[in-house]
Amino acid sequence: MATHDIAIIPGDGIGPEVTAEAFRVLDAAAEVFGFELNKTHYPFSSQHFLDTGEIWPDAAFEEVKGMGSLFLGAIGDPRIEVGKMEFGIIARARFDLDLYLNVRPIKLYDERLCPLKGKGPADIDMVIVRENTEGAYTGMHGFAHKGQDLEVATQTMVWTRAGVERAVRHAFELARSRGGRKHVTLIDKANALRAQDLWMRVFALVAAEYPDISTGHDYIDAACMRMVDTPEDFDVAVTSNLFGDIITDLGAMLQGGLGIAASANIHPGQVSLFEPVHGSFPEAAGKNTASPIAAILAGSMMLDFLGEQEASNAIENTVIDLFRSSRLKGVRAADHPTNEVGELVVSEVRRLGTPA
Ligand code: IPM
Ligand code: MN
Repeated sequence: MATHDIAIIPGDGIGPEVTAEAFRVLDAAAEVFGFELNKTHYPFSSQHFLDTGEIWPDAAFEEVKGMGSLFLGAIGDPRIEVGKMEFGIIARARFDLDLYLNVRPIKLYDERLCPLKGKGPADIDMVIVRENTEGAYTGMHGFAHKGQDLEVATQTMVWTRAGVERAVRHAFELARSRGGRKHVTLIDKANALRAQDLWMRVFALVAAEYPDISTGHDYIDAACMRMVDTPEDFDVAVTSNLFGDIITDLGAMLQGGLGIAASANIHPGQVSLFEPVHGSFPEAAGKNTASPIAAILAGSMMLDFLGEQEASNAIENTVIDLFRSSRLKGVRAADHPTNEVGELVVSEVRRLGTPA
């Protein structure tokens, strides 16, 4: 029986409660599909930092490197300086584990979840591949004359040819393997950010190696418009870090809300990170109102990465079925108590394992 070592950081706000539901589902799936999850919980969170002064000690970080994957609930706490915990935990994992792909599916499971008129599951089924280690997120910034009238603030966007190429190449491979329209859209802002000419050139070179895949190109502003107007134009889209961050929140709304959007931060073949796209939502913490669906679907992506395709598909199909049969209404705070959603998914997954 396969055993997968999993590091878990439930984190802040609603992170712990949605993580708990996700692992009830994952544990049930492990039982039904015959594999083992060897879980190690880590307490790193904003509260832990306030209590102990530690964010993510090096020894614990090294431990995680030897595991199969890492699951993160959410990070962010208004009591702490903006960005400190985000950089100490999320960005640390992305950069120091070189998780260069942030794969964010945008898939509408049921027409009733979508705010767009006249759009259904056939129209909204795409994957955004967000470059995850470069761009505006490298942390290269500075201030001069801080606090004075003539203060200067800089933030540098950084792209390497190798970094752009590995993200773009993954998008083409994904378009080939996922059984969609075999179309890759490049999203950038090369008309204003002239350094993004690199993206256009690398995209053209890689595209030439994939004659079976058609291509498109949108500037980020137009891409936002197209996502709302004709989302069916997208199959796989590849974009830089900041634009990927922004457009996947827009995409989450097309799917039904942040409570449903999941993401995989991947370095193929190495320990990778799975998390819901949503944040810590501190106002809702401990109230048992946040939807755990995004966390559950992040768990499904994790199982797929670990080679447990059957279990991964079973979880996703269960969620789809629960929406289509109206047993799940939606992922807004008032729709269902957190634990009841977890219980519902668990009982459906277990039913798959019970001989009829
Ligand atoms: C995300 C989040 C993070 C990001 C924040 C918390 C730093 O918004 O994963 O989308 O900007 O990447
Ligand atoms: Mn974001």
